[in-house]
This record gives sequence, structure tokens and C-alpha cells, in this order.
Amino acid sequence: MPLTRKAYRAAILHSIADPAEVGIEASYEYFEDGLLVVENGQISAIGHATELLSTLPADIEITHYQNALITPGLIDTHIHLPQTGMVGAYGEQLLDWLNTYTFPCESQFADKAHADEVADIFIKELLRNGTTTALVFGSVHPQSVNSFFEAAQQLDLRMIAGKVMMDRNAPDYLTDTAESSYVESKALIERWHGKGRLHYAVTPRFAPTSTPEQLTLAGQLLGEYPDLYMQTHISENLKEVEWVKELFPERKGYLDVYDHYQLLGERSVFAHGVHLCDDECARLAETGSAIAFCPTSNFFLGSGLFNLPMAEKHKLNVGLGTDVGGGTSFSLLQTLNEAYKVMQLQGARLSPFKSLYLATLGGARALRLEDKIGTLHAGTDADFLVLDYNATPLLSYRLKQANNIAETLFVLMTLGDDRTVLQTYAAGKLVHQR
Ligand code: GUN
Ligand code: ZN
Repeated sequence: MPLTRKAYRAAILHSIADPAEVGIEASYEYFEDGLLVVENGQISAIGHATELLSTLPADIEITHYQNALITPGLIDTHIHLPQTGMVGAYGEQLLDWLNTYTFPCESQFADKAHADEVADIFIKELLRNGTTTALVFGSVHPQSVNSFFEAAQQLDLRMIAGKVMMDRNAPDYLTDTAESSYVESKALIERWHGKGRLHYAVTPRFAPTSTPEQLTLAGQLLGEYPDLYMQTHISENLKEVEWVKELFPERKGYLDVYDHYQLLGERSVFAHGVHLCDDECARLAETGSAIAFCPTSNFFLGSGLFNLPMAEKHKLNVGLGTDVGGGTSFSLLQTLNEAYKVMQLQGARLSPFKSLYLATLGGARALRLEDKIGTLHAGTDADFLVLDYNATPLLSYRLKQANNIAETLFVLMTLGDDRTVLQTYAAGKLVHQR
């Protein structure tokens, strides 16, 4: 294959460590006049344009952006594909919201044509918002995952998804059985896991909708294949937490249910965790499990405020999740806008560099993919964004008042959304142009 080498010149910013561990200044690299060199789908160099250019052939193709910022592609560690059509459903909290809106909406994925249509809309929406990797819930129907992976494969995206396992406490039209969920998940794993940049996640919806038999088989699947992911929900809503105690009286608490069925581990991502206690955070950290922090959803469904400082105290891996359709935006920039307010309401701060970390390298670490995505280091996948400082009249005017990259970044995360994303690149290819 001939070598394809291209360079992109603009301001460039990436997170290289967790500010909670190394301090803010050591957590990022910023090149005011930077150059990103891409070869065959990977980043081959990053640095100051003037320094790097002298090392490159004079005829290299360079795209030069003015008033723009190159960042890594954003990483959404929790989102539901089959809820694309029900974002912004009025009035209910979690358990009633599931019964009233979610289950009827997800039932439409019994139809493959519907699954294909929504997969296409969903992926376009991710890319329009600068999300290049997501950990995705399908519906209970295997075709929801087939449609998604078929569309992701065409664009060579790095994506993770799984079919929901759900064999009780849901309508008959939407339940599988412990046995059928095992067989169907296994077939999807055989077909997709490790194919190109695709990975499979074993996906029990949450403890209340799985029998002990189904949770046992979910744990068994994780032991049968290397590097499988596990995704589920935990401690999102107080009524949900009480319900889990009633359903599993023999367990110490919500996390202990998952622990008992061997669902904790380095590739396990638990969404929400709003009502976790200190011991549960310690156990998540000990097992290398991660939390997906979903601020727009936790506000919208009235679930509560995630305690990020407690997670930091335990050195717990935390990524950011939109949780569409409980969440109200596909934009991780808008999700960070809400994350900042979650911290404000708890008398704490969320620095723009911690926010950048959560949406990029933090997410990559939660998914154990930090050697491939989440930064712009040489040798990683060329998944990156071009953010436009002039995306809207207000953003353009406001950014003229910004004195440094910290202020610029914070304003981008407060005012920014899909309009801010001028271009999205995946594996070095342009996959979205505004
Ligand atoms: N808990 C179980 N299922 C769901 C879901 O679809 N969305 C959210 N936010 N929480 C859940
Ligand atoms: Zn969710």
C-alpha cells in the first residue's frame, strides 16, 4: 500500500494526563502554531509547525486552518442507540420513564429496516458532534447491533457495542431469556469482536431486568473471550437502588450484585453511579472498573449529582457519557457544560483541562484504549477534530476576549456544541464536514 502522508496545521491541544494526578500544567500539551502529521490512519508526529516542517518533504500536503483548534476525537462512554428517537421525553424519573417511553421506543428495533435507518442517523449524529468512539447500548434485538457495526465498519470507526440482555421486569415484547441472550450475544461476539476497530460489550441492562441465571451467563461470556467489555447501569436513581435491594436481599448492596456475578473488571463500565457509597467506589477502583459520568441525563431524569471528587479520591477511572436518550444532547461539549454545573452545585470546580481529560484521555483509560485513542501522541489512531472558533457570532465575539488557552477551552465547552465541530477525522479520513 502506498504511503499516504498528510499534515494539518492549526492550534493543537491534547490532554496527556489526569490533572488530579499531575496538576493542571503537566496535564496537557498545547501548540499555538502546531502541526499534526498523519500516515496511513495513524498520527506519525505532533509538534510546533516551524520545527516539524523542516523535517518533512517540501511537497507534503498541508491543510492550514485559521481560528481553529485541533483536539483528539471525543469519547462517549455511555449512550443508547435505540433511544435516538426519544430524546427529551417529558415528565418522568427513571423507572416510569423506562416503562412509558423507553421500552416502546426500543421495541421498534425488531424491524431490521428501522435498525438500519436509526444506526445511520445515530452515527452521523456522533460524528457531527465530534464523537469518534462510543460505548453503545443496542436494544434487546441482535439486529440493532448488526446495523450499528455494519455502519461503523464502513467508516472504519473505533466503536464498542452490545445487545441488551433483559429477561425480566420488562414487557414480554422486549425480553429475551437467559439462554437466548447468551446464544445471541455469543453469535455477535464471534461476528464482530476484534474485527477492524470494533469491540463487543456484554450488556445486561441493569440488575432489576436480569435474573440471576442471566447474570451468571453474562459473567460466563466475559470469561470465554479475551478483552470483552461489560456495560450496565448502577445506582442512578434512589427508587432503583431500593428495588435492587428487594430483588437481591442476599447481597450487600447494588455493586455487590454485579460483583457476585463476576461482572467487575478492567473493561467494565458502569453508567451513572450517582448514589454509590465510599466502599463501592473503593471496590470499583480495586477491580479496575470504570464509571460513566452522565450529567445531562442525571439532571434531566432528576437522578442526582455525581460525586467526582469521591471518585478521584479512589483513583477510579471516570469517562463522560451523554446517555442519550436519558441525556439530552449528543454533544460532549454540552455534556461538559452540564458537568461543570454539577460540580458548582457541590461547591467544587471542574477545570477546563479536567473536562478535556474526561472527554478524551479519561474516556480512553476507562475503555483501556489509551494506547490507541484519547490523545494525539504519535502511534495512535488519527481520530481528531477541527473546532471552529468562529462557529457562531457569539462564540466568535466571546473568544476574542479570551486571554489564553484555558479561557478559550472553557468557553468552547460552555458555548460549544455540534456547530463548533468543523471537521471530524477517523483513522485519518474525513468523516464529517460541517
Ligand atoms: N437503567 C436501565 N436502563 C436504563 C436506560 O435505558 N437509561 C438510563 N438512563 N438508565 C437505565
Ligand atoms: Zn443509560
